[in-house]
Amino acid sequence: MRLAVLASGRGSNLLAILDAIAHGVLDAQVVGAFSDKAEAPALARARAAGVPAQSASPRGFASRGAFDEHLFSLVDAVQPDLIVCAGYMRLISDAAVAARTGRMINIHPSLLPAFKGLRTHQQALDAGVRVHGASVHFVTAELDGGPVIAQARIPVEAGDDAAALAERVLQREHPLLIATLRELAAGRVALVDARVHFNGHAL
Ligand code: GRF
Repeated sequence: MRLAVLASGRGSNLLAILDAIAHGVLDAQVVGAFSDKAEAPALARARAAGVPAQSASPRGFASRGAFDEHLFSLVDAVQPDLIVCAGYMRLISDAAVAARTGRMINIHPSLLPAFKGLRTHQQALDAGVRVHGASVHFVTAELDGGPVIAQARIPVEAGDDAAALAERVLQREHPLLIATLRELAAGRVALVDARVHFNGHAL
C-alpha cells in the first residue's frame, strides 16, 4: 500500500508509520510526505528516512480550493493508495475531499464524535469526561465528522491537565494508527456507502 502522509507539525505519527514499516509490522511504503508548513519537523523526519517531502504555502492562493488543487496535485503525483492526515492542521476543501472519498483518513485526538476541532484535551477536561482517547476516521467534508474506523480509550485521572492528557493520548495514537493501517493494507476495511465495512460487513 502506497501512503502519502500530510502533516503540519512534529510528525510523531509519521515516525510511528515509518518505524512500523522498517520493522516489518506494516506492509506499506510512504511514497511522499506533504505539509502546508515548510518548517514542519515532520518533513525533516521524512527526509531523514529517505521519504520525498514537499511543502506548499497557502499564501498567494486566492482560495482554499485553489491551494488544495495545488497541494493535492503534488500528492496525486506520487500515486498514493491512501492519504493519511497525521496532524495536518488545515481544513481541506469539499472538492478535494470528495475526489478522494474512502482514500483519505485522519487521526484525531478525541473519542469522536466528542470534541471535534482544536484543543481537544482541554475540551475533554472542561466537559468533565472520565474517558478520553483518539479516533481514526475516513475524511469527509465535515471537519472530524467522517465515519470512525477505530478508537483507543484512556482514563482521565485526577490531576490531569491538557498536557498530561495529550501525552498519554499520543502514546495510544501511534499503535492505533498502525493497527488501522494494517487493516486497510490487508483490505479488511473499506468505506462503502458512507459506512465503514469490516470484512465486507457494515459496522
Ligand atoms: C496528534 O495528536 C494528532 O492526533 C493530531 O495532531 C497531533 C499530531 O502529532 N491531529 P504528530 O505531529 O503526529 O506528532
